[in-house]
Amino acid sequence: MTYRIKTFDDYKKVYKKSVEKPEVFWGQQAATFKWHKKWDKVLEWDFKKPDVKWFKGGKLNITENCLDRHLPKRKNDTAIIWEPNDPSQPFVTYTYQELHDEVCRFANALKANGIKKGDRVCFYMPMVPELSIGVLACARIGAIHSVVFAGFSATALADRIKDATCKMVICSDYNARGAKTIPVKEVVDEALKQNCKSIETVIVHKNTGGKVKMKKGRDKWWSDEVSGKRKTCKPTVMNSEDMLFILYTSGSTGKPKGVVHTCGGYMVYTEFSFKNVFQYDRGDVYWCSADIGWITGHSYIIYGPLLAGATSVMFEGVPTYPDAGRFWHICEKHKVNQFYTAPTAIRALMAKGDDLPNHYDLSALKLLGTVGEPINVEAWNWYYEKVGKKKCPIVDTWWQTETGGMMISGMGGLSPMKPTHAGLPLPGIQPCLVTAEGKEIKGNNKEGLLCIKYPWPSMIRTTYGDHERCRQVYFSAFENMYFTGDGARRDKKGLYRIIGRVDDVINVSGHRMGTAEVENAINEHDNVVESAVVGYPHDIKGQGIYAYVIIQNAVKDVNAFRKEVLKVVTKEIGPIAKPDKIQIVSGLPKTRSGKIMRRILRKIASGDTKNLGDTSTLLNPEIVKEVIKGKA
Ligand code: WTA
Repeated sequence: MTYRIKTFDDYKKVYKKSVEKPEVFWGQQAATFKWHKKWDKVLEWDFKKPDVKWFKGGKLNITENCLDRHLPKRKNDTAIIWEPNDPSQPFVTYTYQELHDEVCRFANALKANGIKKGDRVCFYMPMVPELSIGVLACARIGAIHSVVFAGFSATALADRIKDATCKMVICSDYNARGAKTIPVKEVVDEALKQNCKSIETVIVHKNTGGKVKMKKGRDKWWSDEVSGKRKTCKPTVMNSEDMLFILYTSGSTGKPKGVVHTCGGYMVYTEFSFKNVFQYDRGDVYWCSADIGWITGHSYIIYGPLLAGATSVMFEGVPTYPDAGRFWHICEKHKVNQFYTAPTAIRALMAKGDDLPNHYDLSALKLLGTVGEPINVEAWNWYYEKVGKKKCPIVDTWWQTETGGMMISGMGGLSPMKPTHAGLPLPGIQPCLVTAEGKEIKGNNKEGLLCIKYPWPSMIRTTYGDHERCRQVYFSAFENMYFTGDGARRDKKGLYRIIGRVDDVINVSGHRMGTAEVENAINEHDNVVESAVVGYPHDIKGQGIYAYVIIQNAVKDVNAFRKEVLKVVTKEIGPIAKPDKIQIVSGLPKTRSGKIMRRILRKIASGDTKNLGDTSTLLNPEIVKEVIKGKA
């Protein structure tokens, strides 16, 4: 087990050491895990390429550290408490021994289906224990998992399967979400019609038991595949820097990119950060309400908690089913001690009944966490007062798919806490603020672009199949720094407040989206000539999606046209990318070089039409008035 920080002074000491002697510090943390061979060198790095290697020469298997390592002392400890969508159904638990056995059985099933070290396996599943089991089974045999959020469309799924040339898809029959039953296997079938030549096998987990079509020779039932398989499976020994997984995320331009994380560093950092930020003690019940389709689920539902030998709740459903008290009901039922969710969920629940948490016994709660987007003061206060009864510290954790783990956050209740501020960096993390020219802004009470100037173990290694893109996006803006894409402010005491993205990425209900991606989807509509998408402040979602579109032929029924656009976006990306507002315009404000002036569109969309700045240099200044007038 890595070091556990116990006081604020302790944090300061540990932080100092981690920055002054990073290799000694991380070497000591890594030494607490099981390795087949010790590393030759803790760190080798060059941000120019980028080429970052942690624990080079070390050999390990992450699942041995998640599972086998705990068996001598805590095999009967609960690893997962699975709470189904339907609250009248019984919950299901897995002890560490049971989870180990299931992971091994499925790993043997993967092997029997020809999956080998280095093969890519795609998951398209709801929040069921089999998703964790499947992911860990891949890691057991050195296969690379690529989990795709089950809300993405068939086209988005196909894009991701093709980009990673996956050999297998693992899915469920249906997904039970609230009152809805969503066909999952059908979406996979649809995706596989879109030229996914690399797929040889589809394994289907029976979740609801609804009817599905099975393609002979290709589709197999999960239960048939694991039946008769052994409960042990020798872990494949991996190099520290071998790929562990790919996770797609959106950027400013182009299609989503596959962020690659590797075995050794990711293991060390997710355990260390999990334990310290949440101040997790053995026996505590921890619950992260994120979906495993996002990085939060990877690092803090699967790997971090299991590496730390924790007990965690996994929830299949949605916060508002059967009613908006569901989250608090689950906290009461399983005596949750640490609860980790997104600001958008807090805002939605707050709006549904300010007083609802008071109807439940939340006395087990010791700590609350948030992630994914900036939290506004009202939501923070409500979370602190109504949910935490003013006795639970809130950890506002800032991080990204690319960072693999939490970067800036309080350490439980040890650190100073200030609403809307993520706080201080975790040990080993060296954030800095820079000007647009790349000059570091020293001192406190300053604002700038947020960069990280030293490697940390769980950082992105590459973007799958396109290393140059990784260099371009993250390491080319500023010399010798990782650029986050976020703007931030450092207050008088050095606490960081994340302001938000400074690029063309928007954050809708904690889901990260590239405006270019949404535009590309809208442009698939036959009658759309051009479009521009921006984010605007939204009470519940944080940011809403505002789309300006130029059409070819006038439409009689604007609402019908809007519906068609929503349909196209749902087909291309998924319902999460549906614009909240669509405005038909005859032109878009452009610079003389033909670039869309998103700054102006953002202001208009947010209702701030007074401070548009100088528009006279535009190619078509007259369009601004029209756009303002027609605001949706
Ligand atoms: C935003 C999610 C403010 C930020 C783990 C970042 C946050 C993007 C916070 C990454 C926070 C995440 N406060 N903003 N506590 N956490 N963000 O890759 O803009 O889905 O760059 O990772 O979410 O989103 P991603």
